[in-house]
Amino acid sequence: MPNLNSKILVLANWKVNLSLAETLALVKKLLTGVAKLKGNFELGLCPTFPALPGVAKLLQKKKVLLGAQNVFWKPNGPYTGEISPSVLRELGVKYVIVGHSERRQYLKETDIMIRQKIAATLAEGLTPVLCVGETFAERQAGQKDIVVARQISAALTGITLSPGHELVIAYEPVWVIGSGRAVAPEEAFYIARVIRQSLIDIFSTRMVDSQIKIIYGGSVNTSNIASFVGRGKLGGVLVGGASLEAKSFLALLKQL
Ligand code: 13P
Repeated sequence: MPNLNSKILVLANWKVNLSLAETLALVKKLLTGVAKLKGNFELGLCPTFPALPGVAKLLQKKKVLLGAQNVFWKPNGPYTGEISPSVLRELGVKYVIVGHSERRQYLKETDIMIRQKIAATLAEGLTPVLCVGETFAERQAGQKDIVVARQISAALTGITLSPGHELVIAYEPVWVIGSGRAVAPEEAFYIARVIRQSLIDIFSTRMVDSQIKIIYGGSVNTSNIASFVGRGKLGGVLVGGASLEAKSFLALLKQL
């Protein structure tokens, strides 16, 4: 599968698992460890919103990039409690996770909200990481491919990808997140082809191959990461639980 660049994208989604102090301590350990690694990967860290300024400071002049776990779709205005893409850009954020299944489930994020978030994120020159994936019930109903294709179409139809824009699609089967058991790599590769076809129905093939990266998330760990990424496989991974501890996350990165 052709990819945006040859670097494997590894995004760490820390969700709401760490205190501020724990976040900064983890970043410091990771920076020390990553400096010794030679793998062909690009690392992005997605802490909670309040941790972004502190993490941004630590990442200054480092190769590790900053990501956010969510965003609002307006640049400013009367939207109490929300965070705008322009503020994320000011903080030095590059990647913005949009439409994570936990937000679709607990915050009732809809396809329309997700599409607006993608548009706003791109307009600010940031890279959205659109999460798609089926629930266990949808899978059991034989709807896996249809659900993913529908999520792609709903989130991206009408979106303009200008030159220089980048987009990441993360296939995260909802039922394996946090389960300790990833899907078989072949299954992720198959869905990546479904995703690619859905993308080609919206954008040109050239744009899809040069501006969009397809990655996998869901119980990625040190033992299975190499089976998902690399030549002829996927463009990267979105890691939750296995990125929360420096030693094991560095061991995972060492596989690349
Ligand atoms: P786990 O790696 O803990 O399964 O989480 C995946 C995920 O939801 C990343 O966004």
